[in-house]
Amino acid sequence: MAPGDEQGAGAPSVATEAVLVRSAEVPADAKQVRGYDFDGGVDYERLLGTYLSTGFQASSFGRAVEIINRMRAWRLSDEPVAEGDSAEERDPAHRRSVRCKVFLGYTSNLVSSGIRETIRYLVKNRMVDVVVSTAGGIEEDFIKCLGPTYLGAFELEGRALRSKGLNRIGNLIVPNDNYCKFEDWILPIFDQMLKEQTEQGVVWTPSRLIRRLGKEINHPDSIYYWAYKNDIPVYCPALTDGSLGDMLYFHSYRSPGLVVDVVQDIRAINSEAVFAKRTGMVILGGGLVKHHICNANLMRNGADYAVYVNTAQEFDGSDAGARPDEAVSWGKIKPDAESVKVYADASLVFPLLVAQTFARAD
Ligand SMILES: NC(=O)c1ccc[n+]([C@@H]2O[C@H](COP(=O)([O-])OP(=O)(O)OC[C@H]3O[C@@H](n4cnc5c(N)ncnc54)[C@H](O)[C@@H]3O)[C@@H](O)[C@H]2O)c1
Repeated sequence: MAPGDEQGAGAPSVATEAVLVRSAEVPADAKQVRGYDFDGGVDYERLLGTYLSTGFQASSFGRAVEIINRMRAWRLSDEPVAEGDSAEERDPAHRRSVRCKVFLGYTSNLVSSGIRETIRYLVKNRMVDVVVSTAGGIEEDFIKCLGPTYLGAFELEGRALRSKGLNRIGNLIVPNDNYCKFEDWILPIFDQMLKEQTEQGVVWTPSRLIRRLGKEINHPDSIYYWAYKNDIPVYCPALTDGSLGDMLYFHSYRSPGLVVDVVQDIRAINSEAVFAKRTGMVILGGGLVKHHICNANLMRNGADYAVYVNTAQEFDGSDAGARPDEAVSWGKIKPDAESVKVYADASLVFPLLVAQTFARAD
């Protein structure tokens, strides 16, 4: 007879005690897990509303919605007047007009994708205050005004594409001719900028160059056309790492001498953070765009709100993968800030996030 096989013996107490450990009282405000009930029909508004209580990344999405809506709702009038406030800052009407400064960052591929249209909406409607992207995130917007990007497939073979002059970005295809059109468009603008530098002493920075290109493209599809119209600064400290760099390289042979100063831009973006009453960060993807916005917010001892949407992991110690709490340790996000990281492809998540936040009438 094996141990425990005795007739009438109850389950071993060691097992029952191990399995049936009593729970402590659940906090009264604990949220119950509950998803969407399709018996009520398809209602996207309600469906997205259930994400917060669904769990996993759906709940992080729900949290991101809450945080962005709080960024949007904040006014200086929500805060008590501080000792050092100026006469203007004490004026109630002025306090009601001061809002949270929103920094938006996104990687280049998102401008290659249809997320460009979502970003353009935010910039066109003045819903963000400071923009950061990488070089591809600048040039792809202009290039799309000159020729379309097409849907392809991740599986298309590089060798075959190269022989046809087609470039692949994930499952998107950009004909090489688009870059030839970009060259034809941009080199005369660089000629003019060099002339202004030489004759009028204009000092070009990446943000001034982007602003000028936004003016020149004069196209309502363009993010940077609207950034120019609405006077929203766009920073891109690594402006040369893309086709823009290729064009600046070619231009340096055609008419040498154009200088782009990054120092004035670092001062400008840091000042955007330092002199803001409150800041929020919405950062899609990692790498430069994430760090550049966080680092500017270090200059004010941290952002008040942070929403990250990216696929990067933290186990390799990358800045791209770091959760908001790592930025708290550096002073880039305030310890009492509201923050969340949504682990997701921004192409799936960002339009939904905007639908539940910036694009809402309320
Ligand atoms: N279309 C292009 O992608 C393109 C074009 C020209 C030049 N470049 C250059 O390549 C360099 C690297 O590009 P980058 O810094 O913009 O970003 P990246 O493509 O290197 O991405 C950085 C990180 O962001 C995250 N990420 C990227 N796409 C995401 C998505 N859809 N959803 C969620 N997370 C995502 C990933 O964790 C990734 O490791 C830059 O210097 C850029 O100018 C890119």
